Amino acid sequence: MDYRKDPIIIACDHGGYRLKQYLLEHLDALGIPYTDIGCSSEQIVRYPYYAAQVAKRIQSGEFKRGILICSTGIGMSIVANRFAGIRASAVSDHYSAAMTRQHNDSNVLCLGGRVIGEFQAIDILDAWLSNEYIGGRHAISLGLLQEIEEGRELDYDHQR
Ligand code: RB5
Repeated sequence: MDYRKDPIIIACDHGGYRLKQYLLEHLDALGIPYTDIGCSSEQIVRYPYYAAQVAKRIQSGEFKRGILICSTGIGMSIVANRFAGIRASAVSDHYSAAMTRQHNDSNVLCLGGRVIGEFQAIDILDAWLSNEYIGGRHAISLGLLQEIEEGRELDYDHQR
């Protein structure tokens, strides 16, 4: 499998801590550099602090992509997707992981530490890391996303 090697910013809450530790070992094995901003135990923390930091550091251009892990992946994705330019995908299967890179140009992968097992998480992560955005007709949808982010009204009567 061909992996992009650009650095990843990764974070979790208490519900994602164990899975994050497992995935860090996998990133080490792949030789993909990462910055882990916490949390650093299973003590209860609030996921918005972590998702917001990851989103902002991607927005600023410091990182191109990130991984967020909570109990379900959903809370992290809700927070991250509030930031313009962030396309965070809560994923629990291989196909969606590949498609969200190819079609949505996903730049944040959200996983549920209490939803998927370790082997499944590796499979999902590998699919997300090794697939590329294919553009083409999907660029129309991403353009519409940007219009929404910029507060523009979509032209519903002339859909592209
Ligand atoms: C924390 O228990 C849990 O709410 C959190 O990890 C996350 O899954 C939220 O969506």
